[in-house]
Amino acid sequence: MLDKEKTEEIFQNINLNEPAPEKEPDRQYYFMKKARLYVQQLKQQMGRELTFFVKTFGCQMNARDSEKLTGILETIGYLPADSEKADFVVYNTCTVRENANNKVYGKLGYLHGYKDKNPEMMIALCGCMMQEETVVEKLKSSYRFVDLIFGTHNIFQFAELIVKSMEEKQMTVEIWEGTEQIVENLPNERKYPFKSGVNVMYGCNNFCSYCIVPYVRGRERSRQPEEILKEIRSFAADGVVEIMLLGQNVNSYGKTLEHPVTFAALLREIEKIKGIERIRFMTSHPKDLSDELIEVMAASEKICRHIHLPLQSGSSRILNQMNRHYTKEQYLELVEKIRTAMPDMAITTDIIVGFPGETEEDFEETMDVVKKVGYDSAFTFVYSKRTGTPAAIMENQVSEETVKDRFGRLLAAVQEIASEKSGRFTGTCQKILVETVNEQDDKLLTGRMSNNSVVHFKGDASLIGTIVDVALKECKGFYYMGELILHETEK
Ligand code: 5AD
Ligand code: SF4
Repeated sequence: MLDKEKTEEIFQNINLNEPAPEKEPDRQYYFMKKARLYVQQLKQQMGRELTFFVKTFGCQMNARDSEKLTGILETIGYLPADSEKADFVVYNTCTVRENANNKVYGKLGYLHGYKDKNPEMMIALCGCMMQEETVVEKLKSSYRFVDLIFGTHNIFQFAELIVKSMEEKQMTVEIWEGTEQIVENLPNERKYPFKSGVNVMYGCNNFCSYCIVPYVRGRERSRQPEEILKEIRSFAADGVVEIMLLGQNVNSYGKTLEHPVTFAALLREIEKIKGIERIRFMTSHPKDLSDELIEVMAASEKICRHIHLPLQSGSSRILNQMNRHYTKEQYLELVEKIRTAMPDMAITTDIIVGFPGETEEDFEETMDVVKKVGYDSAFTFVYSKRTGTPAAIMENQVSEETVKDRFGRLLAAVQEIASEKSGRFTGTCQKILVETVNEQDDKLLTGRMSNNSVVHFKGDASLIGTIVDVALKECKGFYYMGELILHETEK
């Protein structure tokens, strides 16, 4: 990561009278400097500071992308605002399910109202939804007040596109169909000083038959291991103690590199970085979860005792239709292997209800896996038909009524099992990364265990960002109440 001083140093060597460099990221720094000039002019004209607001829809990958967008907006002179009543609003969108799209259209109506009152306001839309042609057509015809639209492949061009749309003063649309490029070393603003997401790979090659992600995020591309390690080292130097390695399918990391590296080998290197105390990753595809990875996890002091292992369905027949490349039995064996190696592991999952052709028997298989595995928590989704995916044209789409009934039964089972499991650490002492002052009671701190469970306990805000020992006194549904253990030297 480049800090603010370094950015200034780079800016000093940029001459805006010369044409923009071709090479990245130099080209983007050129446009950041130019955009900053325009923002300064606008501030003078308006006689006040200008603000921005980035709203993230969807997954952790989008959240990380939003930090990159934020880094650029701050570099060019905007100050953060806490709502859409700002001078520059970005919606970083998701399209994994239909309702994600509808939310964005709904919110755009409000933004239009804000822009009527503040005509200099800029509205930018980016992320997965923008990679869909029908969406962009709709925006072009019915949402002309949007200033800038770009996609997932050219997010690194944000500064350049801001300049273009400021200069042309009309809707700027730049969507790429795909890319091989990974642009490193752009500014980014981390949301938390003590923990950060780290992209290890982009895109997905799995083509699960219901999923739109491979179409909107493109083919799998892994970052060079040296780049990842360099970034994590600089985070550690900056006070980060926990990292979350991000990718649509992290354990297929490295397969497409010129010199292939396994995800397990990458983890071994990350483990050596001083200052990093906790390593998380998501999402793991069951078909790629190797024995080598389980070994590395079991031997590690830093890799957290939590794995997110999407099941999607418990029926081998449906899994085959979903193109998931594992059976119910293989999934259960994998869980067994993980639990044997690491008995305290928390396992969470994603499940889809109502995939085309799902019968009552298929659904019962899913319920069976849920009971056998005993998930610590599970995200349950109603199947959403995504145009362009193979499942969208499959016959036997399940009726809304049946889906609703199954979804209710699944949710009840998931919640019952999760609440049974959640108290199992009561009475133990655990290492907690302190994250925030409790929202409801400012005498309490809130933090997380290695297995991701939430714990509240009395303590001073100065402990935020540190790892402390806490005795877990009581489990209240989905969180624990605990007591800070002070060591001799701290008393
Ligand atoms: N319908 C419902 N859920 C979906 N997911 C992905 N695509 C769809 C879809 N078309 C879910 C999967 C995935 C999670 C991120 O979203 O469970 O793991
Ligand atoms: Fe979608 Fe499957 Fe890729 Fe996950 S692994 S992003 S569900 S295609």
